[in-house]
Amino acid sequence: MNIVGLDALVFGVDDVADCARYLIDYGLTPVDTGPDGGRFEGLDGTAILLARRDDPSLPPPLPTASTLRKTIYGVAEAATLDAIAAELGRDRAVRWLADGSLESVDDLGFALGFRVSTPRPLTFAAEAANAPGVSAQRPVNALGVDTNAPPPKPRSLSHVVYFVPDVAKAEAFYADRLGFVTTDRFTKVGPFMRPAGCRDHHTLFMIQTPPFLQGCEHFTFHMGGPTEVLAAGRRMVELGYQSFWGPGRHIFGSNWFWYFNSPFGCHVEYDADMDHHDADWVAREAEANADSSQVFLFQARELWFPSGPPPAKTA
Ligand SMILES: [Fe+2]
Repeated sequence: MNIVGLDALVFGVDDVADCARYLIDYGLTPVDTGPDGGRFEGLDGTAILLARRDDPSLPPPLPTASTLRKTIYGVAEAATLDAIAAELGRDRAVRWLADGSLESVDDLGFALGFRVSTPRPLTFAAEAANAPGVSAQRPVNALGVDTNAPPPKPRSLSHVVYFVPDVAKAEAFYADRLGFVTTDRFTKVGPFMRPAGCRDHHTLFMIQTPPFLQGCEHFTFHMGGPTEVLAAGRRMVELGYQSFWGPGRHIFGSNWFWYFNSPFGCHVEYDADMDHHDADWVAREAEANADSSQVFLFQARELWFPSGPPPAKTA
């Protein structure tokens, strides 16, 4: 199954305007949006799709308060869609939608979509760092910080995290039916998984929870580097959003992170610099705790200078 990664996440919400404002403040670009929602894209076109909770075109909701209505994966070519349709069609309904995508459901009830992925190729460089002992990564006179630059934009949809009531059953579905690989695991919590066509440490992480919590715990877009995570997160704090966890750097996946509360009923993260893996990687396992979840963790605070706080902002 040549699934190459996440293509879009679909949410059905009560307050479309509030969620739309949040996604724009987060840095996504609204495309074909209106009072009933629409598409909010990262730089490569992967997206969050927003709709009203009662939109009849959405798959049925989970039997919980989760607002996640569908996880859409991108595949490399139409033959993979046919293969997925044949595989999942053995024991569940599979629908071909008018846009050429497939719609079905996983073994836990999460609605799934599959479409031929057509992300825009990104030509930006990753954040570069100069260091003694190696040739310069930034050309001479090229600045690491540009205070005139616009706020950093999320580049591509990175991963989604599910709360699931039966993590063993869920992992078996993604591994056995869709060809996902487990890259690492938190004992008694759940696996980090990547589809076969994607080298990112994880596009899916699943956490065992009681059934009433089933749904989306968070979603994330990749940023261009740690400075962009910090700058974008700092901006969210200044806009009044509540930081939930971070900034910091994870151990499994090595990705920089900063999580925020959101009106989606889940957290929303920025990440950067995630590990890549291939078939040679041997999955690790660790107890989930503060020591294994991050190598370091900071906490946002007001800008500071030894002579005092910044001057009060004037409107
Ligand atoms: Fe994450």
